[in-house]
Amino acid sequence: MTAITLKNITKAVINHGDGGKRNPRLHEIYSSLIKHLHAFQKEVNLTTEELEIGRQFLFKLAQPNQDFPMGEIHLMSDCLGISEIAVLLEDAANKKTTEMNVEGPLYIPGLPKRKSGELIGEIGKKDNPLFIHHKVVDKNGKPVVGAKVDIWQPNGEGYYFVQREHLPEWNFYGRFTTSKTGEFDVATVIPGDYPVPLAGPTGSMLHQLGRHGYRAAHIHYKIHAKGHDEFTTMMYFNRSPYVDSDTIFSVKDFRVDVTEHTDKAEIKARGLKKPFFTLDYTFVLP
Ligand SMILES: [Fe+2]
Repeated sequence: MTAITLKNITKAVINHGDGGKRNPRLHEIYSSLIKHLHAFQKEVNLTTEELEIGRQFLFKLAQPNQDFPMGEIHLMSDCLGISEIAVLLEDAANKKTTEMNVEGPLYIPGLPKRKSGELIGEIGKKDNPLFIHHKVVDKNGKPVVGAKVDIWQPNGEGYYFVQREHLPEWNFYGRFTTSKTGEFDVATVIPGDYPVPLAGPTGSMLHQLGRHGYRAAHIHYKIHAKGHDEFTTMMYFNRSPYVDSDTIFSVKDFRVDVTEHTDKAEIKARGLKKPFFTLDYTFVLP
């Protein structure tokens, strides 16, 4: 029998089994993971004490806490860029269509139906009213008619309605249907930036590393259209101070600028008392 050494242990672990006969894909993933984990331990010369800190940390991550009844493994994979790499790999072949993005934990099925142009939430005193004109087309530029478009976002202060008791149910959530020309309008506010929940082990890690926990201002979209796979994405606002340092690394090219309107007659015509913003966006479905 060969003695186990630092040199041969990785091979020994990978070859301990049927070599992938039962499950080739699992064996491929497992072998690579073992290779990289062992290399990492050797590279940083990980001590047994540090390994135990790591084990305890993973244990804490999996425990339910006030913000995450299932533990924080998902949040941690977001903050490590792991969730985003999976999206980038899946979306890699996509060059000409709107980029996809993660759904996040705050999508709630059964969103209320809204009419084109409807205001989808309460406008707070400090909020910036925003009117978005959307169009949905396919790869050939043909309007996608009758698509169901789910929209969800936080309010101007960065809170989703489920996060604050005083907010009305379905505040800034809604399902729109595209018209015969593939269009629909939404009256909303520019969403606030918000931090991911930081009370648990993920927050403690970000703090120890000097990282902020903010997500750049964004609106979530999920489009259900006949002949297309369900499509999920996020629209980011260039005006957010976190647009280049989003804590889950999911800001790519789907970034928008808004146009400010300060003309008094225009403001009055919109039934408002303060300047507002507009934005046009055309989704190209894969
Ligand atoms: Fe979000």
